[in-house]
Amino acid sequence: MEDQKSQVTGYLLFSLSTAVIGSLQFGYNTGVINAPEQKLRAFFNQTWMERYKEPISPGTCTLVWSFSVAIFSVGGMVGSFSVGVMANRFGRRRSMFLVNILAVIGGLLMGFSTICSSYEMVIAGRLVIGLFCGLFTGLTPMYVGEVSPTPLRGAFGTLHQLGVVIGILIAQVFGLEVLLGSDKLWPLLLSLTVAPAVLQCILLPFCPESPRFLLINLNQEEQARKALVRLRGSEDVSKDMQEMKEESAKMAVEKKVTIPELFRTAAYRQPLLIAVMLQLSQQLSGINAVFYYSTGIFASAGVKKPIYATIGAGIVNVIFTVVSLFLVERAGRRTLHLLGLAGMAVSALLMTITLLLKDFTVMGYVAILAVMLFVAFFELGPGPIPWFIVAELFSQGPRPAAMAVAGCSNWTANLLVGFSFPKLVEWCGPWVFIIFAIFLVFFFIFTFFKVPETKGKTFDEIAKCFGAAPATPTRSVNLPLNTTSTSVQATSPTSPD
Ligand code: GLC
Repeated sequence: MEDQKSQVTGYLLFSLSTAVIGSLQFGYNTGVINAPEQKLRAFFNQTWMERYKEPISPGTCTLVWSFSVAIFSVGGMVGSFSVGVMANRFGRRRSMFLVNILAVIGGLLMGFSTICSSYEMVIAGRLVIGLFCGLFTGLTPMYVGEVSPTPLRGAFGTLHQLGVVIGILIAQVFGLEVLLGSDKLWPLLLSLTVAPAVLQCILLPFCPESPRFLLINLNQEEQARKALVRLRGSEDVSKDMQEMKEESAKMAVEKKVTIPELFRTAAYRQPLLIAVMLQLSQQLSGINAVFYYSTGIFASAGVKKPIYATIGAGIVNVIFTVVSLFLVERAGRRTLHLLGLAGMAVSALLMTITLLLKDFTVMGYVAILAVMLFVAFFELGPGPIPWFIVAELFSQGPRPAAMAVAGCSNWTANLLVGFSFPKLVEWCGPWVFIIFAIFLVFFFIFTFFKVPETKGKTFDEIAKCFGAAPATPTRSVNLPLNTTSTSVQATSPTSPD
């Protein structure tokens, strides 16, 4: 293990950092829309006045606003669902490169919306940016999982979430009125996403294609070896190559798996259920109720300057993702996920108490503490783990399809929470966080009974965990071998250099 830890090279870190720019983009675009709400509403009104010579009605204005927020998640659902097709057709690296075109289009649409007096351009831009982010929530974890050495796959897997949380924090800070959240500059705030996209396109050609993709999908052994030698900084990559070849041999009978096949094959059912449930546990924990609406939550608990408390939550978010990064290879995925869910449930109860007793001034501080604890426990496990564990639960054949299904479940639940939370607050008042506490307890029980530990295991060993499970007769073999095609995609149009 120590020996493999020395496989961390500057080149590996460079390639990982380049991929993680995609995660940063997802975080940035998640966080960016909240601060300029009033500016955007004023812009919608102004455009309406120019066109129809009368002010926009409050109802229509809210509709256009909600649409601009929610359409991002709709784009995310579609984008994440398309990840498998893209990753198999163009490869991991080229897909990341191509997907950046969407960021440029989306950013420009939003950036020029005021000049063109068109709020439709904001909505269209948010849709395109959603597509872009959806694709990256699959592509980055997949690439990172495939290039990382096995003993560090969890720690590096957490880098995706670290990118996300840093992106959210940057958006929160840039969104301050004194920076880019002003009347004039908000279009720049929304279009800033173009800059990291361009940067990533400049850096990607210097990164290798995933060696797993080269060997297992394209059958290019020499290219795969070369990429590994550079990534590991050593000529001796025989262990990695051996492991990939074993997986490749099974791929010859396993072939790449489509989404319908993923659902039909009994042996994938268990890992798929786990992957989807973990994604749901992440979103139904209520984390985005906090990230989308924390300013309002703080205000209703009596906090004087809620925006700064929100930024404080963003900072805690980053700190605890770093803590998780260092813990995940020691404590394991399962333990951290369980700890995170339990801690969040307790924090949700604490939040309920603060909202119920808000007339006591001290409750403002307790509310801040409760939200910080909620966020900290989230980042210990439920934040980072679901994103990378999907890549671990599946071997090369079904991985892209599984990432697509898992990602799409995540985005759907994200949309559901984002959209329904304001209504839930109306209905449940201060009791609203009890709903999330119930979900958290449910997911704790599920994780306790169903989720295996994947720490330190090769992809093949993890597949065997499920393959060897006695419950389903079709799993008596080591790997799912329901299909007999020999396709290894040697005919893919990709020709990585
Ligand atoms: C995760 C979630 C995302 C959330 C973020 C908060 O990445 O997928 O929806 O906003 O964590 O840190």
